[in-house]
Amino acid sequence: MGGAFSDDTVAGKAKLAALPQDPSKVGAFRTPTLGNVAQTAPYLHTGRLKTLEEVIDFFNSGGGTITPPAPIAGGPPPPTKDSLLVPLGLCDDEKSALVEFLKALTGQPLPANLTQDTSVPPPAPASGSP
Ligand code: HEM
Repeated sequence: MGGAFSDDTVAGKAKLAALPQDPSKVGAFRTPTLGNVAQTAPYLHTGRLKTLEEVIDFFNSGGGTITPPAPIAGGPPPPTKDSLLVPLGLCDDEKSALVEFLKALTGQPLPANLTQDTSVPPPAPASGSP
């Protein structure tokens, strides 16, 4: 752990703190691991998709519709959807195969630091400790 692109929370936090706070970063967030994804429902950062089938339908339809966030500092609304997210035209067999592939990523339990929600700051240390 601890490389430039690892999930190490300390290194990750330092990396995020160094990012420029500019409109180009609006809508950017951590892509979760797909390791053991069959066991980590619900999906997406809001938990709005309950099954892997729904996730595949979501990506097959082009990744949903994004409501642009409010403009920053009077500028235009920044785009938040990656240009790779386009309708895929997958047939039912291809969608099933993708679901089975994702299920095949099930294995040993992941280390706790890979499943931890790093999008919120850790709790402050208890006051009064020596
Ligand atoms: C058939 C193609 C794809 C499959 C099977 C797939 C699979 C998945 C799955 C299963 C998740 C949910 C993970 C979770 O919530 O624990 C996910 C989330 C995500 N994927 Fe994909 N993905 C595909 C295409 C893409 C593409 C093309 C992009 C970017 C260009 C992308 C970026 C993301 C991001 C950013 C998330 C996190 C979304 C969120 O938390 O709201 N995916 N993907």
